[in-house]
Amino acid sequence: MPIHVDKAKGRFHLQGKAMSLILERGELPDGTHPLLMTYYGARLEADEVPGTPLGAKDLASFDTANAVLPFAAPGERCGDFRPAMIGAQTASGRYATRLSLCGHETRQGKEPLPGLPATYVEAPDEAETIAFALEDALTGLRVRLSYTLFAQVDAVAVSVRAENAGEEPMWLTRCMSVAISLQGQYDALHLHGAWAKERQVERIGPMHGERAIRSARGASGHQHNPFMALLSRDATEHTGDAYGISLVYSGDFCITADQDAYGQTRAVCGLNPDTFRWKLEPGEAFQTPEAVLAYSPDGLNGMSQIYHRLYRTRLCRGPWRDRERPVLINNWEATYFGFDHEKILRIAKAAAELGVELFVLDDGWFGRRDNDDCSLGDWVEDRRKLPRGLKGLAEDVQALGLRFGLWFEPEMISPDSDLCRAHPDWVLHAPGRFATQARNQWILDMGRPEVQDHVIEAVSRVLRSAPISYVKWDMNRNFAETGADWLPADRQGEVAHRYMLGVYRVMEAVTGAFPDVLFESCSGGGGRFDPGMLYYMPQTWTSDDTDAGERMKIQYGTSVVYPASAMGAHVSAVPNHQIGRVTSMRVRGEVAMSGNFGYELDLSRQTPEDLDVIREQIARVKQIRRVTQQGVFTRLLSPFEGNVCAWQFALDDTVVLFAFVTAQKANPELCRVRMRGVPAGRWRDEDDGRVYDASVLERAGLPFIVPGGERLGDYTGMVRVLRRAD
Ligand code: DGJ
Repeated sequence: MPIHVDKAKGRFHLQGKAMSLILERGELPDGTHPLLMTYYGARLEADEVPGTPLGAKDLASFDTANAVLPFAAPGERCGDFRPAMIGAQTASGRYATRLSLCGHETRQGKEPLPGLPATYVEAPDEAETIAFALEDALTGLRVRLSYTLFAQVDAVAVSVRAENAGEEPMWLTRCMSVAISLQGQYDALHLHGAWAKERQVERIGPMHGERAIRSARGASGHQHNPFMALLSRDATEHTGDAYGISLVYSGDFCITADQDAYGQTRAVCGLNPDTFRWKLEPGEAFQTPEAVLAYSPDGLNGMSQIYHRLYRTRLCRGPWRDRERPVLINNWEATYFGFDHEKILRIAKAAAELGVELFVLDDGWFGRRDNDDCSLGDWVEDRRKLPRGLKGLAEDVQALGLRFGLWFEPEMISPDSDLCRAHPDWVLHAPGRFATQARNQWILDMGRPEVQDHVIEAVSRVLRSAPISYVKWDMNRNFAETGADWLPADRQGEVAHRYMLGVYRVMEAVTGAFPDVLFESCSGGGGRFDPGMLYYMPQTWTSDDTDAGERMKIQYGTSVVYPASAMGAHVSAVPNHQIGRVTSMRVRGEVAMSGNFGYELDLSRQTPEDLDVIREQIARVKQIRRVTQQGVFTRLLSPFEGNVCAWQFALDDTVVLFAFVTAQKANPELCRVRMRGVPAGRWRDEDDGRVYDASVLERAGLPFIVPGGERLGDYTGMVRVLRRAD
């Protein structure tokens, strides 16, 4: 995993297992030395990369040099008209930003980012870091741009620390985390969506100009995930160059890929400059979130596997990172707000008899919340519904052999709440403007330290009051008007990022104080499914859409970046509450088994036939969940491209194949699903006892046959568990 430094030539080679990233000290006609990214791609055995075809004479002309050089830290308003990464303006009006390299240092390991989520190492030899010092002599802006190369996976974590080393205040007008430069044209692949249809895969061809995704919602959002892949035009799931750019952040972000007239592509990624402007007094510094680059010569799937491994093992933290996740039952779709102690116990009892391990009480347990129009902020149990309080209920649930979990929405405030009556000033709002409500609620200004302290105490008090071993942390609306009358006028551009820093501080405090509690983040389903959240909470509720067919797409899309251990996946009732589709209990379970499995329906009201299926499902989940939660995940057939979709998990002596038909047709193609990356040797199908050689599984494939011969109808599936037979 070495980082080779050639000081004399000013060349730095980050050489991974199958990738190389080369940075060089350049020279501009004014004598400054920009840092250039002269190569990023498949591994090179040497670091001499020919420069641009332009001669020294061309590069001596400022406008040509600015237009073509592959700057690794491109500044604003300095003649490079491609997307910039960094810009600053000083109090006296100095604006243009040109950074010149003035030093570097390398070290084993990786430093944490104070107050921010980030990937980490557990031993210094797991990574090597090189940090470049760059300076803009005119404005006094000093930048530390650091790249960490991991030993086990071809991922590079990049972030920026910007410091005001001048004598007057300055404002960062943008401060993004990374810029990459590639030669040639690339397709862009990203994950778009909306509520209940998150992370749909879209691949778009190259264009001259910018392809950009962003959020200004105060959350990463349902609409765009903080991720983009650049793919060589010939790249597929399993072949070709795939470059991933993923931001470890949960708020406003922007990722832009720009193709210039010279056949070069630059991508920048970081905090959304539209909602960002940060004041630095002399001596102050600003740290950006971290962007994680992943390169694979083995297509999109190769790139995904890099993210899965890194994020599962070196982004997620805590004892639950490596523990098998419990089978849960959540009462939301079973009862919505209409429950009491007895009704909950009835569902919990049925669940316990079936083998469920955790009961989660969702929204509606606090204040006087019979609807979504009140009580957020009043985190005190509603004794009308729970006469013996949370403690009484949790103890009764525990007596059934289940653990007890609880829903919160800590960042929110209902206009009709005691909290709002006591602290109307804590509502995030733009002074003087109407404050828009969404789902009848406002947002707390989490940037304010007293609000953070209040939320930490309010949540902790409840967690101390009863035996609670799981928390679902929801966030059901996005920003509208934003401002902060507690901040001066020249710091209003800091509100969105201060909100996120506040949320992170609260999450760090609460999860740190209750390390054995399993936390799951949520945002109206998967509206904040991002690497930032995974640092605090090792799993996220993937989507409010639990229809089996829609979930195939949502989970498939989510797997482009995120490991299955991060995805909450539940079986819900039919007709499905979001789209009205009816699918079998069997297929709903088969789809949910590819994530952290649970139920979201009234288990005390199922038919005897469905109860048999449920019992079988739970037994199977317990048998295979180590593989699905910790194994290597491989996408095989895409639900976005055909009517069959398939994926597999592999760990040690087990491979599990999932395959589904979506829309059925008459005389369907005779489909055999070819598996991938099955370790050499013989494998026994646990259901029918047949033994296959790995080469057969990979090259011929297994026929798509639904157990019991049930082949007709939309949305049918098969699960094959193969165990090593030699
Ligand atoms: C949105 C979540 O995604 C749902 O699962 C549920 O918890 C509701 N909020 C409760 O209000």
